[in-house]
Amino acid sequence: MTAQKTALITGVTGQDGAYLAALLVAKNYRVIGASRRASTLNLPRLAALDVVKDIELRTLDVLDPTNVARIIEEVAPDEIYNLGGQSSVQTSFQQPIYTSEVIGLGVLRLLEMVRLVKPDTRIYNASSSEIFGHVDTLMVSEDTPCQPRSPYGVAKLYAHWAVINYREAYDLFAASGILFNHESPLRGMDFVTRKITATLAQIACGGQQILSLGNLDNARDWGFAGDYVEAMWRMLQQDKAEDFIIASGHKHSVRQFVEQAGQAAGLDIVWQGEGVNEVGLERKTGRQLVGVDAKFYRPSEPDALIGDITKAKNQLQWQPTVSFDRLVEMMIDEDMRRARDGQVWF
Ligand code: NAP
Ligand code: GDD
Repeated sequence: MTAQKTALITGVTGQDGAYLAALLVAKNYRVIGASRRASTLNLPRLAALDVVKDIELRTLDVLDPTNVARIIEEVAPDEIYNLGGQSSVQTSFQQPIYTSEVIGLGVLRLLEMVRLVKPDTRIYNASSSEIFGHVDTLMVSEDTPCQPRSPYGVAKLYAHWAVINYREAYDLFAASGILFNHESPLRGMDFVTRKITATLAQIACGGQQILSLGNLDNARDWGFAGDYVEAMWRMLQQDKAEDFIIASGHKHSVRQFVEQAGQAAGLDIVWQGEGVNEVGLERKTGRQLVGVDAKFYRPSEPDALIGDITKAKNQLQWQPTVSFDRLVEMMIDEDMRRARDGQVWF
């Protein structure tokens, strides 16, 4: 029988943290779930997947390296999945310095603490497709040059190179997953997909609100978070630490997401007007369901990129299992249930 492995997950209270915790518990890991100290514990995602009882919770802030070092010393993890951090690109324009401290220097602090305290630990770094920004090709691979277009993307690129440097300089087993957008019914409300499904579900259940969005023509390569955490785990089971693109290989615009989510909620949406004057109307009644507000536009945006997952398919034997249509349907179904039960979530 193989010995039980210990995994430390930072950001366990977030979307990916919850799905990854459930995956590792099912694989018989001892799971140490770390989150920031808060006056009330933020456990609804872990509770939704019924894993609170199966993990050990610890307080960890990636801003404090002594905190990180102590936990590594105490729990002696075989694997660390570093998912903790300020994850909103939009917020990074308002809080550029804080964002860089947490997701840029935070990764450097973690790498340095692992090197000093337990250098045989395998580390997963949550890199992002946001590092690419503006590129000459629309299908990006692990070798595509990066030109990020947000403070978030710049900080993630710093962390991405710190991982490569620690691999080369100190032989750490550190791997970056360059993940494209991944969503789920556990997605935070300030990301566009969940904002759309939660609001349309409430409207479909009798709510009177209007879904107010930014640029409807921006597009993303959207996949399902449950698929993507499996890829994170596979990356740390390789013989050699390497970086991988994880994506669906398809893109859709925000407008298409709204239309698809509307259909799934029983709302047929037609568009009228242009730019900030554009509105989405319910075809049947003419009632306004969607509006555009310039406050949700960003100072700069990445190109509409698609991820090339050839390397992940060949080396990790990984590919997505949930289609775009199915993803939207899953999110709408769950938000309709919550709307009917009067639950306010995340
Ligand atoms: P999320 O739902 O926003 O979760 C982020 C987690 O980080 C939360 O548990 C949060 O804890 C924690 N956190 C925030 N600041 C922290 C700090 N200073 N120290 C320790 N923990 C901190 O994000 P997610 O979607 O699961 O994403 C996980 C990681 O993958 C993030 O690094 C994100 O940038 C990256 N990523 C995500 C995607 C995506 O599409 N989802 C794509 C590429 C990369 P609280 O409960 O205290 O808020
Ligand atoms: N959040 C938000 N809110 N985005 C909107 C809105 C709105 O009201 N209206 C339009 N959008 C557009 C944004 O301008 C962007 O082009 C797109 O919808 C997606 O925005 P988000 O859902 O906030 O995600 P993101 O792509 O900026 O960032 C996510 O994916 C990254 C990977 O590419 C996050 O999960 C990051 O952590 C992740 O690294």
